Amino acid sequence: MTVEPPEPSGQVLVASNRGPVSYTRSGADGTLTARRGGGGLVSGLSALGADAGTWVCAALSDDDRAAAEAYGGRLPAEDTGGQSVLMLDIPRETFEAAYNGVANSVLWFVHHLLYQTPLEPVFDEGFEAAWARYRAYNRAFADALAEEAEQGAAVLVQDYHLALVPGLLAKRRPDLRIGHFSHTPWAPPDLFRVLPDEVARELLLGILGADRAAFLTGRWAGAFTDCCAALLGAEVGEGTVTHQGRTTRIGVHGLGADAEFLRERASRTDVDERLAELRERVGPGRATIVRVDRTELSKNIVRGLLAYRRLLTDRPEWHGRVVHVAFAYPSRQDLAIYREYTAEVSRVAEAINADFGRDGWTPVVLHVKDDFARSLAAYRMADVALVNPIRDGMNLVAKEVPVISENGAALVLSREAGAAEELGADALLVNPYDIAGTAEALHRALTLDQPTRAAHAKRLAEAATALPPTAWFLAQLDALRGW
Ligand code: G6P
Repeated sequence: MTVEPPEPSGQVLVASNRGPVSYTRSGADGTLTARRGGGGLVSGLSALGADAGTWVCAALSDDDRAAAEAYGGRLPAEDTGGQSVLMLDIPRETFEAAYNGVANSVLWFVHHLLYQTPLEPVFDEGFEAAWARYRAYNRAFADALAEEAEQGAAVLVQDYHLALVPGLLAKRRPDLRIGHFSHTPWAPPDLFRVLPDEVARELLLGILGADRAAFLTGRWAGAFTDCCAALLGAEVGEGTVTHQGRTTRIGVHGLGADAEFLRERASRTDVDERLAELRERVGPGRATIVRVDRTELSKNIVRGLLAYRRLLTDRPEWHGRVVHVAFAYPSRQDLAIYREYTAEVSRVAEAINADFGRDGWTPVVLHVKDDFARSLAAYRMADVALVNPIRDGMNLVAKEVPVISENGAALVLSREAGAAEELGADALLVNPYDIAGTAEALHRALTLDQPTRAAHAKRLAEAATALPPTAWFLAQLDALRGW
């Protein structure tokens, strides 16, 4: 007997750890103020219209939990811009163990190849307890989605935080069309095997519970299917993985930059003001090498600074003629290793300034306070953009700079960033571990002749915007509904 797939409902559910809104409480009465975020999912879901679906996310802080409690999880439309958002009030210990103890310090590390010492990782009782909570956190999402979903609805589950959700949900609601999207790289089998066997299997089986598992590049999709074959003995076909009688389709959707949004936002007066300030800081007639990142270990900021230092050492002709504008915005500061890394970035930048700087020339301008308008100003003024992650799912900075750079910035890009698959032909590709090679690429980028640079910049901007966020989102949805 063949089971016909159910008629799809028009309803779309998105599930992600971080939702589109966060809260802060202030004053004696604990007034809750909402702050809305951006990104590909926000654009995609809003393109469907306010009634099309619901976004299910976790409360990330005590203030979020207060809001989730106050509103019974359903956030008021005025806080969400009309979008229906269900914020799950997951107990703090469960959330923190799942988020910091598993997702950020284990899964993120495995997929980004960040374990670099013989002492890490340690899978002890502490990890086992965190893993139990990761499961509970995933169950909380699966329960909420099972409750919320109409017959045959499409459910788009996001990222490594929620890898178990597709499997859990498919068991409870076989009528649903479930997609999982990984925004990160995926580890090759030899590295994925670092995880305890049962954990590795459960993660793969969890994602294979989806009808469709999608990735940002073919490389990450291939690593995932290699893991399924190597660890589960699954059968890998042309764009499919079959295991225990169930087939999951594998998709690739390379998220692009949102040109319309970026151009409009970058032309506002607050960005003009920041640009004027930055120009003054850099000094007239000097070339700029720009980088903008979260202070994230995988972004490889320290090696980027060391490559710049090497440029100044090997090629003194650049002294006084170039400034490295580096924005490194603190991230995941709950983890000690991130706090240490943030401090190291500042130390290395200060040492460069102390060793090479002179009156009227500061070789590195480092900012650590998040400021989107200033980031856009830096993109506008960049002569060279430096994007050198150890590994990255895509890296949107590499795609955003070409869209709004006024000087046709040259792009020095890690070959390990997902974006290299689409932009590689017009970028100067580097091995992110190779400091001398990166320094040399910076020199070549700074000395590219203007017509070559302009031709690259034009093609980079085209490639970077090939699949803007709304189209990226709708393509996933269409593919999932196409079944
Ligand atoms: C980056 C990654 C995403 C991930 C997100 C989590 O943007 O590309 O894959 O979901 O970080 O960041 P958070 O600040 O929520 O831990």
